[in-house]
Amino acid sequence: MLEVKEVTTEYSGMKALHGVSMTLREDEFVSIVGPNGAGKSTLLKTISGTAKVSSGEIYFTGTDITHMKAYKRTGLGIIHIPEGRRVFPSLTVLENLEIGAYRPEARDSVDKNLETVLNIFPVLKKRSKQPAGTLSGGEQQMLAIGRGLMSMPRFLMLDEPSLGLSPVMADLIFETIMNIRQRLKFSILLVEQRAVEALEFCDRAYILESGKITMSGDRATLVGNPMIQKAYLGTM
Ligand SMILES: Nc1ncnc2c1ncn2[C@@H]1O[C@H](COP(=O)(O)OP(=O)(O)O)[C@@H](O)[C@H]1O
Ligand SMILES: [Mg+2]
Repeated sequence: MLEVKEVTTEYSGMKALHGVSMTLREDEFVSIVGPNGAGKSTLLKTISGTAKVSSGEIYFTGTDITHMKAYKRTGLGIIHIPEGRRVFPSLTVLENLEIGAYRPEARDSVDKNLETVLNIFPVLKKRSKQPAGTLSGGEQQMLAIGRGLMSMPRFLMLDEPSLGLSPVMADLIFETIMNIRQRLKFSILLVEQRAVEALEFCDRAYILESGKITMSGDRATLVGNPMIQKAYLGTM
């Protein structure tokens, strides 16, 4: 469904991605793991169209989207939940969710999608009339994910949803992502520094270091790899 071919992305001449290639199939859950500054966010921005490709190609369901405008990619169902759980703090939880439903496909079924999202996140139902700025960090992350779900993604990209959260709250977020995956059918690309969790839940993963993919494989292969265990899982 997604094919990233030899993509290089740079910021004012400085390369952040060096010829990155990766794929993701329909309904697959793929994680990208790598240290701070590896280029994880840049990869998601490049796929969603908020960072410009300097060479290489990106295909989504067979369509060349390499130079497509970001809003058109959203129209295709590519939903990017960026780092830092951005919500509109002065709008209520409900208003934030309604804003998420801007894809034409989603506009016709706002009520149904709202019901689904509030079922997945009961805490958002409880706080629906509260300004989003008054939610805790974990609740704001749930709201950011819920808003993404309101646009009925075909392909959801999550950038470090656990960043800055307590271990308990981070676990809850990962469990919720699994729950969403079981209920709704779409592909997920998760970017994380927390390798243990990101590898635990995915089907397949890529290791991104200094803008390059250094390793890839299915979950079991990576978890069983001594180099991964030493560098990322702290088990050796
Ligand atoms: N807007 C930007 N302008 C210039 N350099 C950037 C920008 N965003 C990221 N970078 C640089 O690109 C590299 C990769 O960053 P990023 O994709 O944010 O990594 P990660 O998400 O893995 O922490 C880093 O060296 C970072 O400093
Ligand atoms: Mg990042």
